[in-house]
Amino acid sequence: MEIPEDLIVLGIEGTAHTAGVGIIQGKEILANQKNMYKPETGGIHPRESADHMTKWLPIVIKKALEEAKISLKEIDAIAFSRGPGLGPCLRTTATAARTLALMANKPLIGVNHCVAHIELGRLLTGAENPITVYVSGGNTQITHYNQQRYRILGETLDVPIGNALDTIAREMGLPHPGGPHIEKLALKGTEFIKLPYAVKGMSLSYSGLITAATKLYKKGISKENIAFSVQEVAFGMLAEVSERALSCTESKELMFTGGVAANQRLKQMLKQVAEEQDATFYAIPKKLAGDNGVMIAVTGALHYVANDTLPIEKSYVIPRWRTDRVPILWRA
Ligand code: ATP
Ligand code: FE2
Repeated sequence: MEIPEDLIVLGIEGTAHTAGVGIIQGKEILANQKNMYKPETGGIHPRESADHMTKWLPIVIKKALEEAKISLKEIDAIAFSRGPGLGPCLRTTATAARTLALMANKPLIGVNHCVAHIELGRLLTGAENPITVYVSGGNTQITHYNQQRYRILGETLDVPIGNALDTIAREMGLPHPGGPHIEKLALKGTEFIKLPYAVKGMSLSYSGLITAATKLYKKGISKENIAFSVQEVAFGMLAEVSERALSCTESKELMFTGGVAANQRLKQMLKQVAEEQDATFYAIPKKLAGDNGVMIAVTGALHYVANDTLPIEKSYVIPRWRTDRVPILWRA
């Protein structure tokens, strides 16, 4: 199914740190506004992040409507990130979405955040049925569509890759989010130090890598060499799994998304994997690879065309909503 040209959907993202609102008309992006919660110290505090949503969602919604130059009345449906994510953030976002749906008297749609990354990726890149490598602070998944589900071929067994990079960076005294700092430091690394490489079937584990990298830092090894070695090992694991996924499914498309997709070294490795498997490599533009409201609007539109809307009284949030539990009714 295709998104009709005149369908206007507003999507609200609020699973973790990003209060994001996107508005689309057909396949065209009319607005993309966001405000990110940045903890002063340490990682995300769920309640603080939820307070941030309470404060910022109304402002971001207003800004998005202004950017799109439309009024609430003109919107055909309101979509929101129903899960997976942090409970307090999800509940705040759902409340905002329900309020808008009731105000506009338009249907409400609950969207799975991980499915949304995939659907926006397909729309932007034109990939049809790719192996998707979705890497972020909260998720690490390798998926492939089959019989109305995005099947999870492989995933992290413990810590997501972005979270692992952030934790290692924090241990080395770097600010949050640490991923970009690790990338910068890694460019200056000159010596590779062996670290735990843990691939199990098509799944991965990063907890041993965190412990080992932290120990190296305490032993006085330079941040540059740790960052370099961490990247080579952590990304090498993802490359191996992606290669296996392409080979097992015989898919000829590899798509790369999530906040960690901003990393050039990882991009280079996955691109090489795709080339070696005769697959086309698709990367989502950096601006839309991280969390945003547009992906919720796009996926909301797909639910809408499949007649899959959500009654207000059933619109509870699902903090642990797995990608493969969502019926993908819009794909044959
Ligand atoms: P999700 O809710 O999908 O799990 P998220 O809340 O982690 O996403 P994103 O914006 O998708 O939010 O991703 C943020 C993550 O991306 C952080 O862990 C951050 O360190 C990481 N990241 C951002 N830029 C880079 C980079 N250049 N290299 C490595 N990691 C990066
Ligand atoms: Fe995300």
